[in-house]
Amino acid sequence: MKVMSIVGARPQLVKLAPVAEAFGSTDHQHVIVHTGQHYDADLSDVFFTGLRIPPPDVHLGVGSGSHGVQTGAMMSALDAVVEEHRPDWVLVYGDTNSTVAGALVAVKQHVRVAHLEAGLRSFNRRMPEEHNRVATDHLADLLLCPTDEAMKHLVREGLEERSVLVGDVMTDVCLKVRESVESGTVDIPELRGVDTGSPFLVATLHRPDNTDSPERLRDLVEALASLPLPVALLAHPRLVAKADEFGIDLEQGSLVRNRPLPYAELVAAVIASHGVVTDSGGLQKEALLLGRPCTTVRTETEWVETLEGGWNRLVPDPQQLPPAEWVATATRAAPTGPPPRPFGDGRAAERSVDTMASWLRSH
Ligand code: UD1
Repeated sequence: MKVMSIVGARPQLVKLAPVAEAFGSTDHQHVIVHTGQHYDADLSDVFFTGLRIPPPDVHLGVGSGSHGVQTGAMMSALDAVVEEHRPDWVLVYGDTNSTVAGALVAVKQHVRVAHLEAGLRSFNRRMPEEHNRVATDHLADLLLCPTDEAMKHLVREGLEERSVLVGDVMTDVCLKVRESVESGTVDIPELRGVDTGSPFLVATLHRPDNTDSPERLRDLVEALASLPLPVALLAHPRLVAKADEFGIDLEQGSLVRNRPLPYAELVAAVIASHGVVTDSGGLQKEALLLGRPCTTVRTETEWVETLEGGWNRLVPDPQQLPPAEWVATATRAAPTGPPPRPFGDGRAAERSVDTMASWLRSH
C-alpha cells in the first residue's frame, strides 16, 4: 500500500509523528508532502527533528495568504504531486487549509482519501476550521475518528459506513513524550522571565476570533496579565503580528512573552506548570492527558470530553467575569481523582494504518 500524507501546519506535524512511526514498522510506502503552510522553524522544522519525523519527500513552500489564496495555491501545487505519485490513499489530518486542499485535489483525481481526526465539530461557523473539517469529512472515503463523540456526529450526518473509531493520534505521541519527561530524558525548558520551579501558567492564543480584533485581543491580554501567577505566553506568529499591529504589549503584568516550544518541551512545560489557558484544541487535550487544569478562552470546544469533571472550563469572555472569579478559575487546582481517558489507548496511529490497509482489501 502506498499512502501520501499531506501536512502543513504545526498540529499536523504532531499527528504525523506517530503515523510515520507506525508506517516505519510496515512494508507500506509512505510519502510525506509538506504544503509549507507553516514555514517558521519554530512551527515546522523543530517538529521534524524533535519528533524524529522523516523529512518531507515533497515541500511545496506555499506559505501564508488569505484563505482562498492559500488554499488555492496549495491545490494547484498538489495536483501534479498527487498525479505523479498516484497513491492508494491520500491521508489528510485535522482541519487546516492544508487538509481541505489535499482532500479536494485527491478526490478529483479519484484517489481515495482518508481523514484522520474526522468527525470533530465546534458548530461554530465563524471558525475556518469548522468548514475545513465538515468539507473534508464529506469528501473523504474513510473517516478515522478519535472519539465516540466524533463518531456520533458522523452518524448524524449520514457518514456512518465510512467511519471507524481508531482513537486520537495526538494522544499516542503525548503519552509517549510524557514518559520521556517522567523518566528524565526530556528537561523542563527554560522559560524567559518565569521560574519553572514555582507555580506558573502556560498560555497560548492564536484563533482569529481572539487575535484579529484589537478590542478582543486587548481584553484577553489584560485578563492574562491580571493573573497572580507568572504566565508564559508561547506566542504564535499570528499573535505577535496582530499585537504589533494593534500596539498591544504582550509583556505586561504577569504576562511574559516566550517563543513557541518544540513538542517535547511543551509537554514538559505543561507538566511543570500549575495549569493552562488557551484557545488551542490540542493543548486542551494535552492538559487533560498531563493532569493539569485548562481554561479555554472560547465559546465552545470540539473536545467536549475535556470538560468532564472540570478538567477544562470554557471562559468565552474573561473580562465579563468578576475579576476574582476569573482569577479563581484560571488558577484553580487540578480536580482530584484520575482524569478521564476518552481519547484512546495510545495506539491510534497503528490502528489507522491497519484500517487503511484492510479497507483497501475489502472496498
Ligand atoms: C493554522 C490553522 C489552525 C491551526 C493552526 C496551528 C487554518 C485555517 N488554520 O492557523 O487550524 O490551529 O494553524 O498553529 O489552516 N505565520 C508565520 N509563520 C508561519 C506560519 C504563519 O509568521 O510559519 C503567520 C502569518 O502571518 C500568517 C499567520 O501566521 O498569515 C496565520 O497563519 P495560517 O497558516 O494562515 O494560520 P494559523 O493561524 O497558523
